[in-house]
Amino acid sequence: MNALTMPVPDLSAYRADFPILSETVRGKALVFLDSAASAQKPNQVIDAMTHAMRHQYANVHRGLHWMSERTSDAYEGVRDKVAALLNASSRDEIVFTGSSTNAINLVAHSYGSLLRPGQAVLVSEMEHHANIVPWQMLRDRSGIALRVAKVTDAGEIDLDSLRAELADGKVGLVSVTHMSNVLGTITPAAEIAAIAHAAGAKVMFDGSQAAVHQPVDVQALDADFYVFTGHKLYGPTGIGVLWARRAILEAMPPFLGGGDMIGSVSFERSLWAEVPHKFEAGTPAIIETIGLGAAIDYVSAIGLDAIRAHESDLTGYALERLQAIEGLTVMGHARARGGVISFSIAGAHAHDIATLLDQNGIAVRAGAHCAEPLMKRFGLTSTARASFALYTTRTEIDVLAETLDRVRSFLV
Ligand code: ALA
Repeated sequence: MNALTMPVPDLSAYRADFPILSETVRGKALVFLDSAASAQKPNQVIDAMTHAMRHQYANVHRGLHWMSERTSDAYEGVRDKVAALLNASSRDEIVFTGSSTNAINLVAHSYGSLLRPGQAVLVSEMEHHANIVPWQMLRDRSGIALRVAKVTDAGEIDLDSLRAELADGKVGLVSVTHMSNVLGTITPAAEIAAIAHAAGAKVMFDGSQAAVHQPVDVQALDADFYVFTGHKLYGPTGIGVLWARRAILEAMPPFLGGGDMIGSVSFERSLWAEVPHKFEAGTPAIIETIGLGAAIDYVSAIGLDAIRAHESDLTGYALERLQAIEGLTVMGHARARGGVISFSIAGAHAHDIATLLDQNGIAVRAGAHCAEPLMKRFGLTSTARASFALYTTRTEIDVLAETLDRVRSFLV
């Protein structure tokens, strides 16, 4: 049974784990529908971080003392948890970074330096700026071309366009999202990997949204690189992950230089540490990594299949409720989608929608969602976006729909 065929699980009891959800905003119960921007944190994450700071903290990999050894074990233990989460074939394939953005920049600098002028990186029209700008910067410093695969009117990556961009064999890397932060589209990652590999390109997935909403198996996807971030996965900010095949990481030069990433240093020459440490210069985000480990334990105990089934049900329900509102248009209608819905109301500015919802305690994001090229593709400058998490309920969707219906007359 997969997430889409399993009965809808009741996750409502887990709301009690998130202290912030019982806050009131402007005198109303908080309805937090902005989890795609950053998810709220359960007590398990908060407690793991404060426990480390109160009871078990020192720098890692450096001290020959009890505190440092215990903290190093806790930190390195999270590498095993991430490897299990992604079904990586080795813990050494897990590189801790500050965020997805940092991970993509690492790949653009390091793997990008292995690409030759005349080669190209291929992205899609539905990328977050974090998966566009680092490649533009690579193009501008090294002459590696940046190509763009089109997105269909439904909001899916146009696989014919992707194939056409790959046809001349000059693309060294395809880097696309695994789930759009604007449209909610879940991209056919395994199919994209097969298309990329057939054309001799490596493939990277930006899993910032996808890894939160569904199980990810990098071996089953046959990916070469995968990135995600802790703070959308109910963990803290300041910690992200780059997974890449070991042979690729070994071939890549370091990105940042400093302590912990070296084997030895002299003024003449330095030697690098083995992977993954070669890519982890300086004191890492120790507490945040421990928080990420607690977040992975938390979602793993619930089950990402169960989370996917819950959010899939919510998304279907929300689409029904929102599309029944006069003048409201949902952006994109992909066949496979996760819990993110961008919408407009004819004649109303997205910022006004968000502001009126906020007056009622409802948090949504409004704007271009760090995806200006995608907005342009759809002829829009901004939308409002509601995004769901394991703690979102149908009642909250009802509050959103009823409030939108009620405030519509002030908007148009
Ligand atoms: N990338 C985050 C979002 O989509 C910030 O809102």
